[in-house]
Amino acid sequence: MQSSSPKSHVLSFIFTLFICLSYLNLFISAQACNHNDKNVLLEIKSHFGNNASVFTTWDPNTNCCQNWTGIACDTNGRVNSLIVINADDINNEFPSSVGNLPFLQVLQFSALPHVSGEIPSSLAKLSNLVHLDLSLNNLTGPIPSFLTLLKGVNFIDFSSNSLSGPIPSSLSQLTNLISINFGANKLSGPIPPSLGRLKRLTGLMLYANRFSGSIPSSLGQLSRLNNLNLRANHLTGTIPNSLSKLTNLNLLVLDTNRLSGPIPSFLGRLKKLTLIVLANNRFSGPIPASLGNLPALSLLDVSHNKLTGSIPEFPKSLTNLDVSFNRLCGPIPKRWFNFDSHVFYHNKCLCGAPLSPCKA
Ligand SMILES: *[C@@H]1O[C@H](CO)[C@@H](O)[C@H](O)[C@H]1NC(C)=O
Ligand SMILES: *[C@@H]1O[C@H](CO)[C@@H](O)[C@H](O)[C@H]1NC(C)=O
Ligand SMILES: *[C@@H]1O[C@H](CO)[C@@H](O)[C@H](O)[C@H]1NC(C)=O
Repeated sequence: MQSSSPKSHVLSFIFTLFICLSYLNLFISAQACNHNDKNVLLEIKSHFGNNASVFTTWDPNTNCCQNWTGIACDTNGRVNSLIVINADDINNEFPSSVGNLPFLQVLQFSALPHVSGEIPSSLAKLSNLVHLDLSLNNLTGPIPSFLTLLKGVNFIDFSSNSLSGPIPSSLSQLTNLISINFGANKLSGPIPPSLGRLKRLTGLMLYANRFSGSIPSSLGQLSRLNNLNLRANHLTGTIPNSLSKLTNLNLLVLDTNRLSGPIPSFLGRLKKLTLIVLANNRFSGPIPASLGNLPALSLLDVSHNKLTGSIPEFPKSLTNLDVSFNRLCGPIPKRWFNFDSHVFYHNKCLCGAPLSPCKA
């Protein structure tokens, strides 16, 4: 045997080191769950009665970082992600003990129709939180002002709950916010003008609430905004001119409010617009011809307003149109003869295909 040669010693040393390193690596990725974090999770499970199906893998005898559904940890075994979704057999208030997971970055409690109560103040302790999704539950009470303590948060989704009261103006202190969805709640009061300070915001979804007052002109400062959805509220006033600065806007959804004044022609300069929904308002004046310059516009719904004038030429990209229930008059541009006729119904005197021919 040559096993005593220096060369083979080096080789076997390297081999042994390699094996040790792979075990060490395995050991790191299977880092044991921090004891305190595990107890907090078991408390959450027991808060919901211990036998809910979403928690069946949460076995006290296994590693919560490795074997528990919805849990992820950092390299120190601290729980940094808690995701509990799609369960209709958990039935209790939102567990305040979630606030005792100090390393949490991602918190998603979503599509839990029987999780009720208020958003607990203990969440203010989650200073590492980045992603907060509490959508599609049965939460009540206010949007808490303690959210402003969560300095690093960039995504908040509270949509489809029964939250009420105003949006705290102090929310504007969360300057890392990229997306806010408060849609489908019972929120009221004005849209705080201070939201214009959230310079990184790309999505502002406040649809299906009871917001009143006008659209703050400060929203024109949100230069990265690509989705503005304020549909189904009690908003009044005009579309502010400042929105002409929203050159990244892709979706503009303002239908079912009490907005008035003209449809601004500057919309024709926001070249990324693909969808404009202004239906069910009190807009008057003409449909601006500038909308024909939008290269990607695919849907335009201006039905149920008080628009006058004729229908301008629209871009080829437009595949969905509704101008019904206005006071439009004149011939329908030839390109739109194949649209369903009802999208032109209930106007003053539109004519030509698909409606009856214009009188000579
Ligand atoms: C556990 O589940 C059973 C039915 O499977 C139910 O009757 C019981 O109430 C549940 N226990 C708790 C504590 O929720
Ligand atoms: C825990 O997960 C690891 C890695 O996926 C697996 O090897 C192990 O068998 C699991 N333990 C239990 C008790 O399920
Ligand atoms: C939602 O919570 C309210 C009480 O706040 C309760 O009356 C209602 O039944 C709950 N809805 C569901 C789907 O659990």
